[in-house]
Amino acid sequence: MEKGKELKRNILLIGFMGAGKTTVGRKLSWKLRVPVEDTDKLIEQKAGKSISEIFRTEGEEAFRRMETLELQEICQRTYHRILSVGGGTPVRKENQALLKKCGTVIYLRVQPETVWKRLKGDTSRPLLACEDPLGKIRELMEARREAYEKCADVILDVDDLDSEECASRLARWLEDNA
Ligand code: S3P
Repeated sequence: MEKGKELKRNILLIGFMGAGKTTVGRKLSWKLRVPVEDTDKLIEQKAGKSISEIFRTEGEEAFRRMETLELQEICQRTYHRILSVGGGTPVRKENQALLKKCGTVIYLRVQPETVWKRLKGDTSRPLLACEDPLGKIRELMEARREAYEKCADVILDVDDLDSEECASRLARWLEDNA
């Protein structure tokens, strides 16, 4: 893939909360000289409130509908970007099809213990605002494993890699495959 060129397809980063989608997306954007967006941020801008507020005032189902709408819009765009996608987006069957249709899907796979290490003390993830966050991480990850794998064109195990190394490996993979 030639750096700084128009992308032929979107590059979508999926994976559990704390996998590093946003940070890796930014670094990849810099390496490939292609703009990056974050679907959570797009949703927040449209709703005029944070994800936590959306969960609190409208509920998770409403948020999930917003995720689907966002993907539908992205699929219809005439330009392409790197997109980091919320951790729960690939769960809905409808979204799995949309993700595949939108572009090349990269799954940043992470172990529950790594997520816990990275997100301990973080208050921006409403799903982890519970008594046993590590238990919740394990449970959600197990429930989502298949959905993530089904969507992925490529899987990168990120536990032992920093974000710079993740982005370098992905840039190399994309040069050969996209
Ligand atoms: C969620 C992940 C979050 C955000 C929301 C729900 C999930 O995004 O979309 O809190 O269901 O896993 P990140 O994966 O960017 O943290």
